[in-house]
Amino acid sequence: MKVMVIGGGGREHAIVKKLKENRKITELYCLPGNGGIAKDAVCVPVAATDLEGIVRFAGEKGIDYAVVTPDDPLALGAVDLLEAAGVPCFGPRKNAAIIEASKVFSKELMKRHGIPTARYERFDKADDALHYLKSASLPIVIKADGLALGKGVIIAQTSEEAEGAVRAMMEDKRFGKSGERIVIEEFLEGPEVSVLCFTDGKTLVPMVSSMDHKRAGEGDTGLNTGGMGTVAPNPYYTPEIADRCMREIFLPTIRAMAEEGRPFSGCLYFGLMLTVDGPKVIEYNCRFGDPETQVVLPLLKTDLFTVMQAVTEGTLADCPVEFEDGAAACVILASEGYPGAYGKGYPIDIPDCLDAEVYVAGAKEKDGGLVTSGGRVLGVTAKAPTLGEALKKAYAAAEQIHFENVYYRRDIGKRALAALED
Ligand code: AMP
Ligand code: GLY
Repeated sequence: MKVMVIGGGGREHAIVKKLKENRKITELYCLPGNGGIAKDAVCVPVAATDLEGIVRFAGEKGIDYAVVTPDDPLALGAVDLLEAAGVPCFGPRKNAAIIEASKVFSKELMKRHGIPTARYERFDKADDALHYLKSASLPIVIKADGLALGKGVIIAQTSEEAEGAVRAMMEDKRFGKSGERIVIEEFLEGPEVSVLCFTDGKTLVPMVSSMDHKRAGEGDTGLNTGGMGTVAPNPYYTPEIADRCMREIFLPTIRAMAEEGRPFSGCLYFGLMLTVDGPKVIEYNCRFGDPETQVVLPLLKTDLFTVMQAVTEGTLADCPVEFEDGAAACVILASEGYPGAYGKGYPIDIPDCLDAEVYVAGAKEKDGGLVTSGGRVLGVTAKAPTLGEALKKAYAAAEQIHFENVYYRRDIGKRALAALED
């Protein structure tokens, strides 16, 4: 079978490596992929948002199955177009991808269906939002409605910051159309958990839980990033909490989407906060998380392609999905300066016999080797029976990898380890 994966980061590398385990796949393409993915799949220089180019390529190559991973093509309707061209896909259609693409939609969905989330108000006019802020308690969370490269959420500690965020989004249009509508919501506290789920719209199978580390600096300080490291499983996510999430959040969400004529098929990602009042939804993503995928998929025992096909065919209920018992840890090796400005083009030296998996996120091929080309460059993932051992292995491998200006957090998993000892 000929399979193509749309996207070109560390997450797509993890998906490609897992798909490669299936012998039925004879040709594997990644659009656009990257210098590291090129070792595992044929990379084709078509951007993930070039929907016409993607559909044309699928037709020319006779692609049998497509995995659409990033938020932008999903929100633009890549799956709808590919299906119309006769290519079965893993990923939600446009009318279901809206669960991530519009925060106003997702908040209103949760309100309509009684799914626990932070209290909120939506605003279409800056004046109304600014008026509301005068009586709101602090801290307060301001969210742009649309996709904003992960930068559309501001946690304001002061009224000035809150006002500034509203003006930047609604008056200065910092996020373009994405900030024309906003949500202002209550600040929640508690441990955060990411749960990625396979779903065909009727059946939902949660994957092993994980914990992201979003801030650039150690001790969760500094700017928000796409994610500086992950661990799985997340020790805060006990079997009791998992049961409650299934009953109160996961199943109600897929039922709500189906009832509203937007059946969700693909990977639905629940960003949860475990508050004193129970688990609440912080965000939905209509796709695999990055870098959550880099710890979750290595623990998947079942063949990924088989599960994906069951999702597409609507037969997930008949497909057993199993995960290993151990733990996984991923440390992101970034370019110093990220998420601000950083240098590019530095040669990367990765020894051959590392006791870890290296997922390439931001690197391109040059003169037979790899050079840095992005802020997040590599994800180094190790597995072990315990989280402590997995972290040791991941850091030992990270230390053996070299490129100029490399930066990584040394405290990935520290909080998870402390929670395990409690
Ligand atoms: P999002 O882009 O929606 O994932 O938000 C980014 C991060 O902002 C989340 O991972 C949380 O850490 C934080 N966040 C979002 N909403 C809230 C909230 N209502 N209360 C506290 N923190 C939040
Ligand atoms: N790691 C969070 C995300 O993929 O959005």
